[in-house]
Amino acid sequence: MSPETPCLVTDLSQVGSRYDQLVGALPEISVFYAMKCNPAPEILRALRSRGAGFEIASLGELRALQAIGVDPAGVLYSNPIKPPAHIEAAAAAGVWRFGADSPGELAKISELAPGAAVYVRLRVDDSTSHFPLSGKFGTDVEDAYHLLLLAQRLGLRPYGVTFHVGSQCESTEAWRTAIRAAGTLMEMLLADGIELEMVDLGGGFPASYVAGAPPIEEIGEIIAKEIVDLPYRPDLIAAEPGRFLVAEAGVLAAAVVGRAERGDENWLYLEVGAFHGMAEPLQIPGGWTYPMWTSRPSDDLLPYTLCGPTCDSADTFAHGVLLPGTLTVGDVVYFGSAGAYTLSYATSFNAFPPPTQVFVGS
Ligand SMILES: Cc1ncc(COP(=O)(O)O)c(C=O)c1O
Repeated sequence: MSPETPCLVTDLSQVGSRYDQLVGALPEISVFYAMKCNPAPEILRALRSRGAGFEIASLGELRALQAIGVDPAGVLYSNPIKPPAHIEAAAAAGVWRFGADSPGELAKISELAPGAAVYVRLRVDDSTSHFPLSGKFGTDVEDAYHLLLLAQRLGLRPYGVTFHVGSQCESTEAWRTAIRAAGTLMEMLLADGIELEMVDLGGGFPASYVAGAPPIEEIGEIIAKEIVDLPYRPDLIAAEPGRFLVAEAGVLAAAVVGRAERGDENWLYLEVGAFHGMAEPLQIPGGWTYPMWTSRPSDDLLPYTLCGPTCDSADTFAHGVLLPGTLTVGDVVYFGSAGAYTLSYATSFNAFPPPTQVFVGS
């Protein structure tokens, strides 16, 4: 029996095999799943049973991990700017590693989590990613150096360096230059007697959507080579993958709620739009499409403008998408590779509930 729409169906065995593939391609790396991508307890448990650690962005995420028995001591709190109360409560729960990229954040951490270990977020080239992440966060190598010295003066442990090459990064070169920047920082700190204990490669590992992505094995080779060339070998080489682990495991199913012709445009109104899971397409100026198919396959295709069910014009997320011309109310549109950053962004706007989650596999 098909589940009721709208729903996201995630195959947990595929999440497990993606984890295995990642660890196979990057054998020296410890994986900390970036749970913001899809924090469903079923997914957290599946990854935990494979040996994954977790990266959090807030206290709420930590609480979700604690609810399934994860030890906070194994968690990385990488959000570079955190609400003070979250720092305090996370430290009280046992989190001891915090990301930062500014003197103000170091001051907060030293006051609310005295003696904690800190890792600095570098701003790196994210231009080859689809979802850049260095606009809001990150600092250059020189400032990172001064931040880690300041951390030491504040009684914190200068622990590591991190970066994010941007989500859905499709160039292996991005990791090469980012790891080299981390190496430069490590070299500079050596002169002050500081050896970093962690290099955290962040996320960005790409999934396949309509177009393919560079194979993870190719990315793994570049990373392995660059790690060998670091000034010394830190105890922990971490990565915080999100999208790579869960995107391809999910299919989002949404029924057609209406059709209209407006001028020469065919509008298709679906149970999901920008406010119910399709937020990522809005972030890409040229549009972003998931692989799509429908419950009414046909060769007679029409270009559609796709939108959600709410009364807001901003709920329009794709233009010129070719789908069967015979689609009608009640037919279902399927979005493949939809396991990442769909439900995380879904709201109940206009009292349309977000899609439910269904899990298959084990
Ligand atoms: C700090 C941090 N780590 C990891 C990730 C996961 O990135 P991705 O899903 O591209 O692997 C994100 C995504 O926003 C992030 O902000």
